[in-house]
Amino acid sequence: GIETSCDESAIALLENQGDPRRPAPSAGQAGGWLSVKYNIVSSQIEIHKQYGGVVPEVAARAHVPVLAGLIADSGIGPDDVDLIAVTSGPGLITALRVGIDTAKTLSWAWGKPLIGVNHIEGHVYANWIVGSAEWGVRSCAAPVFPALCLVVSGGHTELLLMTGHGQYQRLGETLDDAVGEAFDKSAKLLGLPYPGGPEISKAAQAGDARRYKFPRPLSQDATLNFSFSGLKTAVRVAVGDRTLNPQDVADLAASFQEAAVDSLMIKTKRALNQNREVQSLILAGGVSANQLLRAGLSELAHEFGLPLFLPDLAFTGDNAAMIAAAGYFRRSEASEKAWESLAPESNWQLGEGNKKS
Ligand code: KG4
Ligand code: ZN
Repeated sequence: GIETSCDESAIALLENQGDPRRPAPSAGQAGGWLSVKYNIVSSQIEIHKQYGGVVPEVAARAHVPVLAGLIADSGIGPDDVDLIAVTSGPGLITALRVGIDTAKTLSWAWGKPLIGVNHIEGHVYANWIVGSAEWGVRSCAAPVFPALCLVVSGGHTELLLMTGHGQYQRLGETLDDAVGEAFDKSAKLLGLPYPGGPEISKAAQAGDARRYKFPRPLSQDATLNFSFSGLKTAVRVAVGDRTLNPQDVADLAASFQEAAVDSLMIKTKRALNQNREVQSLILAGGVSANQLLRAGLSELAHEFGLPLFLPDLAFTGDNAAMIAAAGYFRRSEASEKAWESLAPESNWQLGEGNKKS
């Protein structure tokens, strides 16, 4: 797996044990799973911090010297690999190109089949990774279809109905900012560094979520769509031109976090009520590291009597293990000739749009 869609350069090697389509009910029992043999993520956060966000051209250039080094240092060679999966969209086009060109070169030189993977599908398939002793073994059980999938990242906020491997219906999506983007922009307003999501959750621990009454945009709306730009504006208005003390920051962070998570929960609950056939609930994307969201979804899953799949914290942010996992499930579409034609698709959307809303 190779990932360079935004500001992380990452490679990973996964191995299937048995058939992961028939997951073992628990560790050690008969069935299959995907285990992580190698996984490394090199983050560009320190570079982008000075700009308060990711600068696309800087990101692309920074991947170039790092990615080749990661591959060389891994010691992974043609004998270790049956399939190469690379993120080919969505993402920053020049950044995607670095990973794609590298993957194409390896595919050609090693004579291995290549497949372009959707980054969001990668986040979803982080839930199929079992790990290894080094990366942490957890239950082998895998989501059962149809699964409702809440995708929450820096660029996406979507509710997907996953009806089978690689099959999605988009039930709802954000009409403006993504939830991760709202975390990042609100953090900036509070004077917290990039990326803002983890900083807001940290600050919120000492805060009072009841101090500020922030909106839950679109909560009264009958669709399964989201909106987060009004929430960010509400934070801006609450900050005003005051100088914030640490308690103000903590209270603003806690109030914002609760409003953002509440908005996600309201629509996820509505989606479960509207789609009674759902058999499992899946969380995916960088914001899935948020503990308030994880706890809220656990309660919701319990209320509906559904198994909940939360990605291991090692695989919530951008990584290449999830790309390898998604590539594994799409391996029938891989080809030894893909190096001739694989191209970035910076706006690649997963699934058909808003069928049910
Ligand atoms: O999936 P991801 O790593 O990159 C994209 O594909 O966009 O998601 C990154 C986003 C950022 O907006 C970051 O602030 C957010 O995930 N994030 C969090 C937390 N950790 C990361 N948001 C809320 N709480 C967190 N603990
Ligand atoms: Zn991502």
